Amino acid sequence: MRLVLIGSAFAALLLTGVAQAAEPAAAIALPAAKVDGKVSVEKALKERRSLRRPSPAALSLAEIAQLAWSAQGVTDEKGHRTAPSAMATYPLELYVLAGSVAGLAPGLYRYRPEKHDLVLVAAGDKRAELVEKAIGQDWILKAPAVFVITGFAERMEAKIKERSSSFIWVEAGLAAQSFFLEATALGMGSTYVGGFKPDATRSVLGLAAGEEPLAVLPVGKK
Ligand SMILES: Cc1cc2nc3c(=O)[nH]c(=O)nc-3n(C[C@H](O)[C@H](O)[C@H](O)COP(=O)(O)O)c2cc1C
Repeated sequence: MRLVLIGSAFAALLLTGVAQAAEPAAAIALPAAKVDGKVSVEKALKERRSLRRPSPAALSLAEIAQLAWSAQGVTDEKGHRTAPSAMATYPLELYVLAGSVAGLAPGLYRYRPEKHDLVLVAAGDKRAELVEKAIGQDWILKAPAVFVITGFAERMEAKIKERSSSFIWVEAGLAAQSFFLEATALGMGSTYVGGFKPDATRSVLGLAAGEEPLAVLPVGKK
């Protein structure tokens, strides 16, 4: 009996060790997203406008968390998300280029919906490099944070043969609209920036092979 217990404890230790090794060192837990608020969907729809003069005032980590959740957050125990996905294939990735965020060092982070956390991809403020090399719309530099939606058509291909390369764009639009409504409800604004050079964007963000940049969403307070 004792041997079995020691054996189980050893196995548990090993498992814990494996789980910790698989966890990226720089994962940042986010404040839980709020699932209720004071602004109705109708009011957010009425008030939403593209914002090209965002205040450079810093955002909080809770605001970043709420925005990330609005675009791709998990909303049930089956893993479904705030935005719909063709046959629940979830081909999108969501990044945030943090410039001025209280409690978050400037850097490029990837949002992990299942864990509701951020993983550091590259340290340092990448907003200027992205704007200079890939977009050229200087107003974006004022935004304290810039979200980027990318997609992998290949994640859909096992279930959806023909139109996966179009569907990732549809999904980016759906996620972006959720993001815009949340930003509006929080007293912020954003803009769907589609005018970027795909190759330069891939290079600045260090995207993987097969990962398509779909939308750039600068965000800040009004
Ligand atoms: C696919 C797409 C691409 C867009 N690209 C840009 C862009 O590169 N720069 C920009 O300032 N606005 C861009 N916009 C925002 C539109 O100009 C804006 O939605 C439109 O003028 C309507 O204004 P509203 O969003 O305030 O209702 C884009 C919008 C969409 C849907």
